[in-house]
Amino acid sequence: MSESNHRTAWIQAEINALQAAGLYNVIRTIDSPMDAWVKIDGRSLLNFCANNYLGLANHPRIRAAAKRAIDTYGVGPGAVRTIAGTMTPHIELEQRLAEFKQAEACITFQSGFTANLATIPALVGKGDVIFSDELNHASIIDGCRLSRAQTVRYAHNDPIDLVRQIEATTEYNRRLIITDGVFSMDGDIAPLDKLMEVAEQYGIMLMVDDAHGEGVLGRGGRGIVDHFGLHGRVDIEVGTLSKAFGVMGGMVCGKQEIVTWLRQRGRPFLFSSALTVPDTAACLEAVNILQESTELIDRLWSNARLFREGMQQLGFNTGFSQTPIVPVMLGEAPLAQAFSRRLFEEGVFAMAIGYPTVPQGKARIRVMNSAAHSHSDIETALDTFEKVGRELGVI
Ligand SMILES: Cc1ncc(COP(=O)(O)O)c(C=O)c1O
Repeated sequence: MSESNHRTAWIQAEINALQAAGLYNVIRTIDSPMDAWVKIDGRSLLNFCANNYLGLANHPRIRAAAKRAIDTYGVGPGAVRTIAGTMTPHIELEQRLAEFKQAEACITFQSGFTANLATIPALVGKGDVIFSDELNHASIIDGCRLSRAQTVRYAHNDPIDLVRQIEATTEYNRRLIITDGVFSMDGDIAPLDKLMEVAEQYGIMLMVDDAHGEGVLGRGGRGIVDHFGLHGRVDIEVGTLSKAFGVMGGMVCGKQEIVTWLRQRGRPFLFSSALTVPDTAACLEAVNILQESTELIDRLWSNARLFREGMQQLGFNTGFSQTPIVPVMLGEAPLAQAFSRRLFEEGVFAMAIGYPTVPQGKARIRVMNSAAHSHSDIETALDTFEKVGRELGVI
């Protein structure tokens, strides 16, 4: 073995171990637009994997907006925002998002992930404390680590445990509570109203990451703050433009001073180039579509209801789902993988999720409903789940 191969041999050993444990990610290649149906390995499959809640990823108006913007402004932003990368569409998008979300101000980032990496370390640091829901997303966990603040986990969606943890933590400078809005593996909603009461009672900043609530919850898809009527009270609302908005990007909405501070101290804003022009223009068109009508959101919820109720009637366990994310709880990872494989053979693309993304023994198929699906697509999916469920002895 050469010297350089020797130095990296551990990596292949780790990959082999992942494969042996059934934890190696096999990534499918989609050879079509991201839509209700996708082409994989030359076959057309019914797609229940994408976070494309409103079907905007391949919407004709979004495609046209991106093309028009390229003709006017080109493609690349050329630099980080503070140096030369802020263009008219970036500013327009932030103004329109703030207006849509009924927030004082908005700042956009390259993704929801970088929005969290920018925001958390800008708000807290060494000597400070973060209270974080135990099921928060990886980007929140990484943002907490980067901040070097002490992170105290509280039990999932449990304001009573949150209070217990707050009262047990006496050494601190600044304090921040962080929760996902909609939890991406279970589809349940954070009790933001109760968390807000705790935050106000103890004088602690509250941040919600509403990646799966943007375009889904609230009036016209305005998100979890709107869902609970907490405008002007929640300090920091992080969101993504990569899911319901159908494009790519992240955002933070809140008070003007927070957005101004993030423009000075959000490291991915300061040290990584801006969103591309077509992405930005496509996001703007998504805001237009959301502001014009609730048709897509209504269809999303109607599809989700049809699927969830259909699955429950068939005898499947759909966990704690309250949103278009519907987990089909199966228990052990090998069963979930076999189930997903059989669905794939039968023409339905729905991924198995196992440890470490979810706890041991809680493996599932995660079904992402979309407005792009027709009712007949949902009925096809239900028939296929029934067939595979009976075959594998789940129902
Ligand atoms: C709660 C949460 N935050 C952030 C992200 C990351 O968003 P993006 O894909 O825009 O980076 C996700 C996506 O999985 C998420 O579920």
